[in-house]
Amino acid sequence: MSMADRVGGINQRLLQILDAGAFKAEPLAEAMKYSVFAGGKRLRPLLLLAACESVSGAYDETALDFACAAELIHTYSLIHDDLPCMDDDDLRRGQPTCHIKYGEALALLAGDALLNKAYEVMAGACVNDPRNGNCARALSFIANAAGAEGMVSGQVLDILNESGAADTGALTRMYELKTGALIQACFAAGAVLGGGDSQTEKEMNALGATLGLAFQIKDDILDVTATTEKLGKPARSDEKNQKTTYVSLLGVEGARDEYRRLSDKTVEVVARIPFKTDTLQSLVFKIIHRDF
Ligand code: IPE
Ligand code: IPE
Ligand code: MG
Ligand code: MG
Ligand code: MG
Repeated sequence: MSMADRVGGINQRLLQILDAGAFKAEPLAEAMKYSVFAGGKRLRPLLLLAACESVSGAYDETALDFACAAELIHTYSLIHDDLPCMDDDDLRRGQPTCHIKYGEALALLAGDALLNKAYEVMAGACVNDPRNGNCARALSFIANAAGAEGMVSGQVLDILNESGAADTGALTRMYELKTGALIQACFAAGAVLGGGDSQTEKEMNALGATLGLAFQIKDDILDVTATTEKLGKPARSDEKNQKTTYVSLLGVEGARDEYRRLSDKTVEVVARIPFKTDTLQSLVFKIIHRDF
């Protein structure tokens, strides 16, 4: 299956999920769909599906639901990240941000509802596929990564970082939480849904952690080197918010060196794991070389 077909399958399932809800408030449904379908590379769901397939050797419908749940969580995090009380950005995925389009209150609530919808979808997948005893484990990986032990704490540290200079150690810990945790959980959840043993789970966790950290460093680099048009979000947002980033601490070249070190490590690790298909390997390669 091509990458475009995979993205098509993810989008189709996301639409089913968001259309199926018996929404009691129409503007909420509209705001949720607006942000999910504004664009987005769908990298987290692609990673989860690829991790599952590389381990099991086959495409998996239960994994598709988990993949969509990861995208719902990611989209909620972007809506909240863009709010005036956070990064205060007005463009996302090439469109006005959710709060610019629908107002802050509805944007906040659309984020809440997307986060909750992710758990509805994962719980539903566990109920529909009772043979897959690994569902609950996969759900716990995603839940832990998204919450107070993962992304939410990372976002808190990111906000604190606006007023105090962090060193690379503190920055790395923050990135591992705000961005790395969910990406890592996609690797681990995919592996466990694919029937991977504890060794595979361990390897996938390590792989996801390295790629996740690299991903945020690349995001910092792109913030200063790419255009708003290419990014679909405002370039130089970090500078505007006086964030300490890899770029502000090490310069663009220093950040690129660190990025190269982490991506070389990722490629080395992914090549060492004996997968049944090369889906994950080629996706990881594509992500490492992204330019938006
Ligand atoms: C942006 O993530 C936010 C970060 C965690 C760095 P993506 O670059 O995956 O954004 P979309 O989903 O393609 O919009
Ligand atoms: C976002 O980090 C991390 C999230 C958990 C949303 P950024 O604030 O750097 O993401 P962008 O650059 O706005 O996409
Ligand atoms: Mg932010
Ligand atoms: Mg931001
Ligand atoms: Mg950024």
